[in-house]
Amino acid sequence: MIIAIDGPAASGKGTISKRLAAHYGLRHLDTGLLYRAVAKAVLDAGRSPDDSAAAMAATFGLDPARYDEAALKTAAVGSAASVVSAFPQVRDALLAFQRDFAAHAAGAVLDGRDIGTVICPDAEVKIFVTATPEVRAGRRAAEYRGQGHDVDDAAVLADIRARDERDTGRAAAPLKQAADAHLLDTTDLDIDAAIRAAIDIVEATRAGRGRG
Ligand code: DC
Repeated sequence: MIIAIDGPAASGKGTISKRLAAHYGLRHLDTGLLYRAVAKAVLDAGRSPDDSAAAMAATFGLDPARYDEAALKTAAVGSAASVVSAFPQVRDALLAFQRDFAAHAAGAVLDGRDIGTVICPDAEVKIFVTATPEVRAGRRAAEYRGQGHDVDDAAVLADIRARDERDTGRAAAPLKQAADAHLLDTTDLDIDAAIRAAIDIVEATRAGRGRG
């Protein structure tokens, strides 16, 4: 079974994907980490994320195991990832790796922005996870505070809105709900309730297919 999870930043899709993968015994790929690794390599090389040549060089030299997750999960790397991911050549170069991961016989959970629309359009289950920008910004701010950072709430909200605009507005594989994806709005849900809702969607989808 392939489960495709898409959604904007801080929607809860990462946590939901990890927990779904554990629940069903599937491997999980956080595809955002690929774009983040490209962005980090560009920044480390002293280049700007909107430098397409630097982004391409970083993509071709990419070693996904090079950085630990903490180094990739910073606000600066997230914003830069949103910029480098708009280059169609970067997306094309990362496509095969993601499809190979999904093609594993046991199935997989992949999360990102274009999993249900581009990477795995035939996934058995597609879930589009969302929440209001204010609630997502609140979660991000709490996460940064938990890491001991000083946080400017207005700046976090502005960053979330800017990322939404870039990720949904780009020409190449923009963030959007696939026509056959289930919408999961986590605005009023805590993480346990969101995971229960996601499992319910998977179970209902499988049962529906079983009957058909
Ligand atoms: O999910 P994330 O916040 O780690 O993703 C960082 C950026 O990477 C996001 O703003 C857009 C880009 N991205 C993408 O374009 N396509 C994906 N499948 C995953 C992430």
